[in-house]
Amino acid sequence: MGKTTSIGHFGVALAEEGYDVLLIDLAGKQGDLAKLFGIVDEIDPEDWPNISTVFQPEWERVVEQLGDDAIDQLIHETAEGVDLIPAHQGLDSLDIELESKYSGPNKYNRLDEFITEFISGRYDVVLIDLPGMANNITYNGVWAAQHVLTPVEAGSFEADQARALQYDLQKLSDGYDRDVSLEMIIPNKIDMRTKLARRYLEQYEDEFGDALAPEPVPMSQDIRNATENGQTIFALEEPSGTAKKAIDAYRSNARALVERV
Ligand SMILES: Nc1ncnc2c1ncn2[C@@H]1O[C@H](COP(=O)(O)OP(=O)(O)OP(=O)(O)O)[C@@H](O)[C@H]1O
Ligand SMILES: [Mg+2]
Repeated sequence: MGKTTSIGHFGVALAEEGYDVLLIDLAGKQGDLAKLFGIVDEIDPEDWPNISTVFQPEWERVVEQLGDDAIDQLIHETAEGVDLIPAHQGLDSLDIELESKYSGPNKYNRLDEFITEFISGRYDVVLIDLPGMANNITYNGVWAAQHVLTPVEAGSFEADQARALQYDLQKLSDGYDRDVSLEMIIPNKIDMRTKLARRYLEQYEDEFGDALAPEPVPMSQDIRNATENGQTIFALEEPSGTAKKAIDAYRSNARALVERV
């Protein structure tokens, strides 16, 4: 679908505009955002504290002991002007731990409390990469972010997923009295040469209206190659034609996002 790729490129586009940007990887797996920025090797799997620690009751004691160092140890710099709190294997069991240790809204506002208290003063923009499924970690992410972005490819399965997300967020808003909105749906991997892609774009415009990003991101082999080499396409010295179009699209969409929120 392109969630991790989108978040990484949005982050760099916003950093270029002069914003202090922090990315938080809650998607777990193989630390995809750290890979995207080529810093996997500098992250020790034994790192403590790590992103899963901030959700735990022990976090307060960690801060008492380490002070500001606790935050500094979580944050890694990248070569592309954005900072990153990488994923950690502690996230694997976090969903179940949140379920057993907390109840009511406390189950969902852990991340929000962490960001409000420790991160908001340091950064202009925080972008969170979330698991592609609804669990307690995802709820913490959307609760904290309130503004949700999602890529959507040209296809009926993908369109259904975007609709389902819109529905889930609405339910969360209504059920918990917390404003959460699907702020931007970003058509991704769009090949404008094909009739089919153009038809899906028209359909998305009709259906999602203002939530649709102003510029679709084209399919670009450069994106795949660059990210496998630990860079975004913003770092390429000689971007291809499609990569240039994608860079323009990320820039316009990032600017539109700033205006919307
Ligand atoms: N516009 C694009 N053009 C070409 N390739 C792309 C584009 N966007 C994403 N990709 C590629 O698609 C693949 C999946 O992207 P990505 O990892 O961002 O998806 P994801 O939604 O985060 O997936 P997961 O659910 O596994 O976390 C990657 O190989 C990425 O390089
Ligand atoms: Mg991902």
